[in-house]
Amino acid sequence: MSIPVGRMDDILERYTPSPEHLISALQDIQEEFHYVPKEALEAACDHMGVSRSQGWAVVTFYKLFRLTPPGKHHLSICTGTTCYVNHSSKVVDTLKEEIGLNGGDDTSKDGLFTLEEFHCMGLCHMGPVMKVDDDYLGRLDPERAVEAVDALKEKEGAHHGNKED
Ligand code: FES
Repeated sequence: MSIPVGRMDDILERYTPSPEHLISALQDIQEEFHYVPKEALEAACDHMGVSRSQGWAVVTFYKLFRLTPPGKHHLSICTGTTCYVNHSSKVVDTLKEEIGLNGGDDTSKDGLFTLEEFHCMGLCHMGPVMKVDDDYLGRLDPERAVEAVDALKEKEGAHHGNKED
């Protein structure tokens, strides 16, 4: 995937070239693109005078950096203590199957969903809780979670191969 060079230049121009600014620039890059594309990492390294291998070491060390594009819809399921005892792990397992996540993948192959586990959203009284993009769903069970995902799939036309929306 190629990234818009102009947007990258805008980000890098905010910083005086110096290794100490690499992490801040990478945070800006992630905010702009929602992940750190390889070309962007390399451009940031070149700009800051850091070797590309050092740059890779930085982005793989800090968990806050994402190296693959996220899905179009973000599902965060709370697996904090209260939600866990209310069976949030069943919701996680069901949704992984529903959106077709394999192994350690967090994003579905069709690019529609990224699923992450979260530790306490401060809504324990509503647990299990899932955040679907900007909305919170509480008192969740696997069936309701699948319904929420199916509604998004339908909206995206995924059920019928229809890309209209
Ligand atoms: S433990 Fe899930 S919201 Fe607090």
